[in-house]
Amino acid sequence: MPEANVVPIPANFADAHIKPDDYTAMYRRSIEDRDGFFAEMADQFLTWDKRWDSVSAHDFVTGEATWFDGGKLNVSVNCIDRHLPERADQVAIIWEGDDPSVSKSITYAELKAEVCKLANALRARGVGKGDRVCLYMPMIPEAAYAMLACARIGAIHSIVFGGFSPEALKDRIQAAECKALITCDEGYRGGKTIPLKHNADISLADCPSVSTCVVVRHTGCDAAMHDDRDVYYHEITAQQSEDCEPESMDSEDPLFILYTSGSTGQPKGVLHTTAGYLLQASITFKYVFDYRDGEVFWCTADVGWVTGHSYIVYGPLANGATTLMFEGVPTYPDAGRFWQVVDKYNVASFYTAPTAIRALQGKGDEFVKQSSRKSLRILGTVGEPINPEAWEWYFNVVGDGRCPIVDTWWQTETGAHMITSLPGAIAMKPGSATLPFFGVELALLEEDGSEIEGEGSGYLVVKSSWPSQIRTVYGDHQRMVDTYFSHYPGYYFTGDGAKRDADGYYWITGRVDDVINVSGHRMGTAEVERALALHESIAEAAVVGFPHDIKGQGIYCYVTPMDGVEGTDALKAELVNICAEEIGHIAKPDVIQWAPGLPKTRSGKIMRRILRKIAENELENLGDTSTLADPAVVEDLIENRAK
Ligand code: WT7
Repeated sequence: MPEANVVPIPANFADAHIKPDDYTAMYRRSIEDRDGFFAEMADQFLTWDKRWDSVSAHDFVTGEATWFDGGKLNVSVNCIDRHLPERADQVAIIWEGDDPSVSKSITYAELKAEVCKLANALRARGVGKGDRVCLYMPMIPEAAYAMLACARIGAIHSIVFGGFSPEALKDRIQAAECKALITCDEGYRGGKTIPLKHNADISLADCPSVSTCVVVRHTGCDAAMHDDRDVYYHEITAQQSEDCEPESMDSEDPLFILYTSGSTGQPKGVLHTTAGYLLQASITFKYVFDYRDGEVFWCTADVGWVTGHSYIVYGPLANGATTLMFEGVPTYPDAGRFWQVVDKYNVASFYTAPTAIRALQGKGDEFVKQSSRKSLRILGTVGEPINPEAWEWYFNVVGDGRCPIVDTWWQTETGAHMITSLPGAIAMKPGSATLPFFGVELALLEEDGSEIEGEGSGYLVVKSSWPSQIRTVYGDHQRMVDTYFSHYPGYYFTGDGAKRDADGYYWITGRVDDVINVSGHRMGTAEVERALALHESIAEAAVVGFPHDIKGQGIYCYVTPMDGVEGTDALKAELVNICAEEIGHIAKPDVIQWAPGLPKTRSGKIMRRILRKIAENELENLGDTSTLADPAVVEDLIENRAK
């Protein structure tokens, strides 16, 4: 492994919450005395209606885990009410609209009132503890109110990213049998409108479980409203009380479901519970971003992804922070938007994805230099491995060489950060997520399941439970066991490969399964294949990822038309459309190559390893091809490789 550049902890972080010695001592204690460590954290970070009976129990053969069993608490009380004595007039949420002239600030007192009014309105419509509520929202404050209103009454939210298609929305609503949908007339993105209610209507035609559809009026367009089922948010909340008795929840009661892509079949509904999730979102927020009272924190993710759940809403609000929510895109009105917003609100911590960093780097330094960015203290990255060139640009140009970068590795399933640097405690290495967070016990495994000691690379696994661990795949517990706990019994299987260097630093090398990462959006190649195969002219399709300069990975499709069908550009366009319709715009293929045949083993299994190599243009090193049923297929694919 080449000697990596080590970037020391900046001197002005000497008084960080966690200093180098603290990290070492706290990490050791968190592993050796897990229950003692997390009990102290749970007392310090959360407010309980009733203290727990036992801190943790887990079994990594069956995948079972419980944290703070017997305890009772409410997430919305922890995120709002308990802060009111000190912070009623402090801003909880700053909302910056897509249009730079539109913005709003919501204090903790106002947040309490908004959340309670909606919670009461949902209760009045028969929504209560354990019911599933789907959210299909743009990035507006009502999205956060809706999450917290669900938490207040014990309903389980399931957010579907606003960029997903009606088809994808329908699948997720049906899978969770949601009782209500909360959506919006339209959203704005980069000056354009997104027809959310229109999309929702298409989905709801096949969702009999939904008896209430709450519609936020945002653009004010003339949305179709269906009697009985559809109600306007402002109308049902107008007469409601600003107080709402919170449901006292068990630690292990579900808080939310979030669908994410896996290597096979339909997306999985990852389920997180109340206490453990909130605790880890809360601890990581404070320590990883070294959060100081009064600072403005900005995570640019969408609330439709887990990053938005944990670091726009739950982590910041549980800490009484001011969190910024941005409706727009990084390049509208121009590529300086992020830095204009940083200056406008004196943002202290800024948290984004490598794909955005690379896209902005490509627009040139001028857009950054037009802003002062002097309020920035910490920069964060998440979603995919960051290439050292993008890291250096982020550090030197955006951060003027004075802001530590926290590279945070985690997953929808882990709920919160798992491997990350800490700004005052861990020296950085560009491209490495560095060291495990408190309580996270990692290992690298060989193919045969043996643990690798010291330096090496292998499958990244977790050896014991952490508080915000996935508890189940909603409606299909066996699928959770199969996906995460059966590859190597006794370990949680992350699906990622990683290297560990001589200093114990982790370097994530990417997915080892058939999941690809397109602009930080996780996608199962099987989902794209399923969409392509729906086209009547298509016999078969195989999809793999390939390196893409901006997106990290692009979508490369090998498609076999039906006998007698010609592979035309018009057909390619139809295939691109079908992916957008079935999944969403993020699933549009970057490359479609016509494939008269796909490389298969004699038993008929598609050899994706070979397809990946061809897509990556690594033609010298195709690996073992001796099991191919028909080697001529591969020669054809190489010859006609899409340029
Ligand atoms: C996958 C999880 C939870 C964050 C948003 C994505 C990749 C995530 C990093 C990072 C290298 C990363 C992994 C992981 N990933 N963060 N800092 N460095 N890779 O959540 O959609 O559940 O995807 O994203 O491959 O398995 P997700």
